[in-house]
Amino acid sequence: MDIAFLLNGETVTLRDVDPTMTTLDWLRDSRGLTGTKEGCNEGDCGACTVMVTDAQGTRGLNACLLFLPQLNGKAVTTVEGLAGPDGNLHPVQEAMVTHHGSQCGFCTPGIVVSLAAGQIAGETDHEQQLAGNLCRCTGYAPIMKAAKAAAQKPVPKWLQDLPTGPARRGLSQAKLPASVDALAEFLLANPSARIVAGATDIGLWVNKDFRDLGEVVFVSQIEEMARVETAPYMIRIGAAATVEHLRLALQDHHPHFARMLARFASAQVRNAATIGGNIANGSPIGDTPPPLIALGASLLLRRGDFTREILLEDFFLDYGRQDIHPGEFVEAITVPRDPGAPDRLKVYKLSKRFDQDISAVLGAFNIAIEDGKVQSARIAFGGMAGIPKRATAIEAALVGKPWTRETVEAAMGAITEDFTPLSDLRASMGYRLVAGSNMLLRYWLEDEGMATSVTGVSA
Ligand SMILES: Cc1cc2nc3c(=O)[nH]c(=O)nc-3n(C[C@H](O)[C@H](O)[C@H](O)COP(=O)(O)OP(=O)(O)OC[C@H]3O[C@@H](n4cnc5c(N)ncnc54)[C@H](O)[C@@H]3O)c2cc1C
Ligand code: FES
Ligand code: FES
Repeated sequence: MDIAFLLNGETVTLRDVDPTMTTLDWLRDSRGLTGTKEGCNEGDCGACTVMVTDAQGTRGLNACLLFLPQLNGKAVTTVEGLAGPDGNLHPVQEAMVTHHGSQCGFCTPGIVVSLAAGQIAGETDHEQQLAGNLCRCTGYAPIMKAAKAAAQKPVPKWLQDLPTGPARRGLSQAKLPASVDALAEFLLANPSARIVAGATDIGLWVNKDFRDLGEVVFVSQIEEMARVETAPYMIRIGAAATVEHLRLALQDHHPHFARMLARFASAQVRNAATIGGNIANGSPIGDTPPPLIALGASLLLRRGDFTREILLEDFFLDYGRQDIHPGEFVEAITVPRDPGAPDRLKVYKLSKRFDQDISAVLGAFNIAIEDGKVQSARIAFGGMAGIPKRATAIEAALVGKPWTRETVEAAMGAITEDFTPLSDLRASMGYRLVAGSNMLLRYWLEDEGMATSVTGVSA
């Protein structure tokens, strides 16, 4: 494939690149830019963080899960490009020196690039910004001090308007379609081609399983597919919209969903991972399908010029089996809205670590109450079956009943009718059943005004 992008301000044009060459390998092996480190090669440590700028802004991404074609038409800044042209250190670099934020230094380039990207994006929650950057020897106190100090400084002039310059549009070609129509046409002609979206799943198949992907097509150029649009009666999420984009878009409409998304992986992964990928991968423990199902979302699937719309809950047929055909792709997800109704969605994610961890159980509850009675209930779980699935027995045990603790406790027992979960490394079957049903009680307790947060202390 032929691509063009800016690297630390310089236009780079590459011909015949291997579409699954990672930015990390290319920077280190072909460009000698070894400041970008390889720690885990699977998106967990952040040592490989680079800054990428395009029409949507500037963000930190893990270079180990970023294939070169995804850079087409974008600007990349590595740690080597952070200091000013006159050699002045970036404020984050300066603060890391002043506050002794680096000991062995292996994590430092990734941390510095992450914080610099966060500064440009106006992120003030440094813990959240650094959740995907592991440091094993300095300890986070000096790093946080450096982060806070640097945040007081303005974004340096040389990074204020990161140019996307002559490489702005990149090189056009069929495997990097720039419109949904072009993607549909390509997939119709090449039905076995693999769609690469954020590559946060696919990157691992390549890096860890050494899988040959065969024919690929990238959606990273399709701006119309990366939008989240809010209309009075629906929210339309383009399949290539990132998890971070959705998190920001949902803050006013479904704040609990948005808060859960802050615990989806790390900033770097959220900046890459798409909602389409999180659904189409068919994972039983993806974090977005249960809340989307609880909201009554539907999927817009397209093959050539033919489109069909199905409920998201009907997309997941069985473990590893989805209702999608060769040449077909997810174009968008539609979430219905009733601007007059209060937001009743709550989402609870249980994982072994608070940040950067896959769910053991995730429950999404959307229960409407009228005159003290349950008017409707849409409840969906991840991690309880081979697919993300609605809890129809629990729902039936609630609807029409008074919204009381007795009703809730009776409905909790119905979880064994809905699910027979597996025991695996994340949780046992017994834990999953108890934790999943307790989430319903938690929802009710919160409705009663009870504080249930396990991350805060109240007297
Ligand atoms: C460190 C790390 C932490 C993670 N943490 C979480 C987490 O907390 N929660 C969670 O849910 N997931 C997590 N994941 C998994 C991953 O980030 C998500 O599943 C992500 O949403 C996948 O989206 P993507 O765009 O990266 O997909 P890709 O890797 O590009 O693709 C995944 C699959 O979807 C297909 N696909 C992509 N887009 C479309 C489309 N529009 N139509 C049809 N098929 C399509 C691809 O062909 C492929 O089969 C984590 C991953 C990593 C590496
Ligand atoms: S090398 Fe660890 S996240 Fe990329
Ligand atoms: S300074 Fe050694 S890992 Fe962070």
